Amino acid sequence: MIRKCLFPAAGYGTRFLPATKAMPKEMLPIVDKPLIQYGVEEAIEAGLTDIGFISGRGKRAIEDHFDISYELEHQISGTSKEALLDQIRDVIQKCTFSYTRQIEMRGLGHAILTGETLIGREPFAVLLADDLCVNDEGNGVLSQMVELYEKYRCSIVAIEEVPREEVYKYGVIDGKPIEPGVFEISKMVEKPRPGEEPTNLAIIGRYILTPDIFDILRKTEPGLGGEIQITDAIAEQARKGLVIGYNFKGKRFDCGSVAGFVEATNAMYEKFKERNGDC
Ligand code: UTP
Repeated sequence: MIRKCLFPAAGYGTRFLPATKAMPKEMLPIVDKPLIQYGVEEAIEAGLTDIGFISGRGKRAIEDHFDISYELEHQISGTSKEALLDQIRDVIQKCTFSYTRQIEMRGLGHAILTGETLIGREPFAVLLADDLCVNDEGNGVLSQMVELYEKYRCSIVAIEEVPREEVYKYGVIDGKPIEPGVFEISKMVEKPRPGEEPTNLAIIGRYILTPDIFDILRKTEPGLGGEIQITDAIAEQARKGLVIGYNFKGKRFDCGSVAGFVEATNAMYEKFKERNGDC
């Protein structure tokens, strides 16, 4: 059974400077809720309530967000605004939160390896909060992946089809379908050069990883951009055994980019209006 979800959140978020100079990218709000809270709620829905953050310098606001603010509680206690804190109170009450710092930002693979101390030797999920995923038709993406893990008991990466001209921005898989939406991965390439992409099946920020990934990451040399790439480590897992690419049900917004962030804001504002009316 998977209990733990790791949130790498140590990156600099340079695409949002100067907004992210003193504020974590993960705390940028989509309407009324920070990105990271959407992610934690998705993890809770999947039954993962043991939350681990890979934090870094300047990320203290994340810790404060998932803690009680006594002053604020006192201030709005008994007023009509009290209900506005219900959702975050519920999240805090359902989860445990652990933190470790990535001292040097040496890539996503390195961030995940830094999280070993929070995970130990058990399978775990990884959620990149800047990929905001919603599924209006059913379970969230992580929940779908946990279900798939019960069946296959191997590492799983979430994938989606992206336009060919955008493939260069992503890690990409190659493989053969073993059931609808499920691929046995034979190859993975991080940010392929245009024309060299094996498919247009791009990896997005949801993973389930078996703990042998840590041993592989320890031996993984820096790859593209001098960073330790999680794609290279999972590709090594795929060479040794079964690794799955899962074309999830739902929609992803790339909130790590300004265009995706604005698109997500507009979509979430429509839902917000349904709940709260125009305001
Ligand atoms: P990104 O490359 O999308 O995030 O990494 P970034 O570096 O913060 O953003 P830009 O490109 O400068 O705008 C994907 C995820 O991996 C985490 C980031 O926090 C983000 O959630 N990450 C990346 C780390 O935790 N540590 C790293 O060394 C690199």
